[in-house]
Amino acid sequence: MERKLNRKNFIKFTCNTACGIGLGVALLNVESCSPFPVIKTKHEKGEIKIPLLSLKDKKDILVRDLELDYDIMIKEKEGKYTVLVLKCTHQDWLLSPNAKGFNCSLHGSTFDIDGKVVNGPAALPLKQLNYIVEKENIIITL
Ligand code: FES
Repeated sequence: MERKLNRKNFIKFTCNTACGIGLGVALLNVESCSPFPVIKTKHEKGEIKIPLLSLKDKKDILVRDLELDYDIMIKEKEGKYTVLVLKCTHQDWLLSPNAKGFNCSLHGSTFDIDGKVVNGPAALPLKQLNYIVEKENIIITL
């Protein structure tokens, strides 16, 4: 059956295309805002499993689980990992990463790249999560 490109179909086609392009650009911009590589995950049974291969040659990785309210940062140093929750320790606000650390836009606290407080009002360092390395994965306990 031949499909005619009448006005209705034209509008439907262009809207769908524009929405698709707009969504793609929006997702791209979200990803490009981070100075770190971003891995998207979906946790199961209170754990996030990430293949070690995806961490290869990267020192700092941002983990974005679509069902969690906060990103997680995995940092590698000399074969050991540190897993930080990017949630402000002052009043639980979402932190924004940058090359020097993390900023809280609610009251202005800043944390260095290791999660230590640089400027308050936050007084405590970022929470660290436990992990194990099992076979070819790093498994983070939420
Ligand atoms: S919640 Fe982050 S500084 Fe207050």
